[in-house]
Amino acid sequence: MATMTCIEDLRRRARHTVPKMFFDYAEAGSYAEETLRANRADLERIKLRQRVLVDVSRRDLATTIIGETVPLPLALGPVGLAGMQHRDGEIAACRAAQAAGIPFTLSTMSVCSIEDVAGAVDKPFWFQLYVMKDRGFARSLVERAAAAKCSALMLTIDLQVLGQRHCDARNGLSVPPEIKIRNVLDIATKPRWALGMLMGKRKTFGNLAGYARAGTNVNSLASWISTQFDPALSWKDVEWIRSLWPGKLILKGVLDVDDARLAVKTGASALVVSNHGGRQLDGAPSSISALPKIAEAVGSEIEIMFDGGIRSGQDLMRALALGARSCLIGRAYIYGLAAGGQTGVAQAIEFIRKELDVTMALCGVNSVREIGRQVIASD
Ligand SMILES: Cc1cc2nc3c(=O)[nH]c(=O)nc-3n(C[C@H](O)[C@H](O)[C@H](O)COP(=O)(O)O)c2cc1C
Repeated sequence: MATMTCIEDLRRRARHTVPKMFFDYAEAGSYAEETLRANRADLERIKLRQRVLVDVSRRDLATTIIGETVPLPLALGPVGLAGMQHRDGEIAACRAAQAAGIPFTLSTMSVCSIEDVAGAVDKPFWFQLYVMKDRGFARSLVERAAAAKCSALMLTIDLQVLGQRHCDARNGLSVPPEIKIRNVLDIATKPRWALGMLMGKRKTFGNLAGYARAGTNVNSLASWISTQFDPALSWKDVEWIRSLWPGKLILKGVLDVDDARLAVKTGASALVVSNHGGRQLDGAPSSISALPKIAEAVGSEIEIMFDGGIRSGQDLMRALALGARSCLIGRAYIYGLAAGGQTGVAQAIEFIRKELDVTMALCGVNSVREIGRQVIASD
């Protein structure tokens, strides 16, 4: 790979490496993408406070996330179809995360199944659950995650119905891609991807094998989701999941203080302040603007995680300053995965780690545990 210096370099490389329909799938937000843009714009608006002549020679980025010791406050979030960005993409990303000592979350909508990933890595990973109407299937996913020794269950609670991404419909996103002239011409310009995929283990939704019909295009996938995902999902169902999964539970997709208070009552280990990377409710506030209120309201009762728009260690610093104990990244590692498989994901993590380290130094901070409002520049 040519010299890569930051997530944006990986993003540019990803654009040239994977078929357009999969790059767009990762890149896009729902509808007019207002919330997607707000995630980035609001992070950039937060300015960090430069401090000088503080002894910052003993910097320590280590902390814990839901009790797991990590060398930096970062985890890889659940991303559907990561295995279409690169051959066996979920395995590659999980290996990179584990080599870096941080958690990896496998999506329900992954290409490699829970068992595929468990068989290919040495350490436990986290599993993200979407609850389908067919509760028997949801239960079986939880049981499979337990059998695979997953160390946490992340229940996503902001996708009872699916926000539309216009580009997926326009591109005819399908898994695997349909043999259409437009796709064949595009894939012909991405030979490395095509060869890799040919050699890969799976080409469709690994966890749903035998449950969903494979090879459907996004319109039928979207309509499949609308028939399978449950708009009636409620806090009662979280109790039910809790009864099936006695281990650590993370609730992902909280953007409102009232919901955060309800999340505390479930006894979950953590909540993720998230708007699904701007892919669900368009017009919702940015994740970073929602974070301080939620952290203030419930931060002493439940561990606060954050995602949405993180592309650098500086962004990580901003989220930690406003009340997150740790952050998830989605697109930042997906660009790395698309650009260079396991190596690309490792690079994405390392860019963010180094940037956080330097940012801490330039803000006069020695430990991630010290990061708070004092690192934010006042207007
Ligand atoms: C391509 C893509 C697929 C995603 N799939 C899932 C998923 O299957 N389950 C889930 O809970 N969140 C999913 N998300 C949301 C991410 O977990 C995360 O909340 C979001 O990417 C954070 O924003 P960021 O990409 O700006 O870091 C997905 C995000 C992207 C970009």
